[in-house]
Amino acid sequence: MVPNAKHLNFTVRVLIAGGGTGDSTIHLAQRCTDLNISGVHIVHLDLSQASIRIAQARLARRNISSGITVAFVRGSILDLMNKQVLPGCSLPFDYIDCVGVLHHLPDPVQGARALQSVLADHGAIGMMLYGKQSTFFLCLVYIYI
Ligand SMILES: C[S@@+](CC[C@H](N)C(=O)[O-])C[C@H]1O[C@@H](n2cnc3c(N)ncnc32)[C@H](O)[C@@H]1O
Repeated sequence: MVPNAKHLNFTVRVLIAGGGTGDSTIHLAQRCTDLNISGVHIVHLDLSQASIRIAQARLARRNISSGITVAFVRGSILDLMNKQVLPGCSLPFDYIDCVGVLHHLPDPVQGARALQSVLADHGAIGMMLYGKQSTFFLCLVYIYI
């Protein structure tokens, strides 16, 4: 635990791309709250309104600090290219989290390019895609249990 509050003198902008039902968004918001970090703006973007509703409900059950803001946006990663999907959001993002999403797109590279188009020069992306081997073994597990 970090004992003292950290008030950033700038806003850190984070995009949770394909945030689904909210694991990454909630984890980040809760962690910043626990560490007394403020000045973090999170945009949770997903295609599915149903998933967004679940993420909102889960987040609402947490006592998130007022220094952490979360905006829920329904839309596609692919629309980031023309920036229309994020009305009112200040770009670019300092960090983008995209876990378990890009392999769902017809062209994952196009998705990665769309993410890059809204990433700051100094920014970073944390990305996870399913591997062919790992899903093969997962299928075996489902078949045999
Ligand atoms: C396997 S879930 C992963 C959710 C979340 N990242 C996590 O780790 O819990 C994939 C998510 O990607 C979203 N998704 C798929 N294609 C998308 C797109 N083009 N733009 C935005 N979200 C998308 C789905 O709606 C779904 O919520």
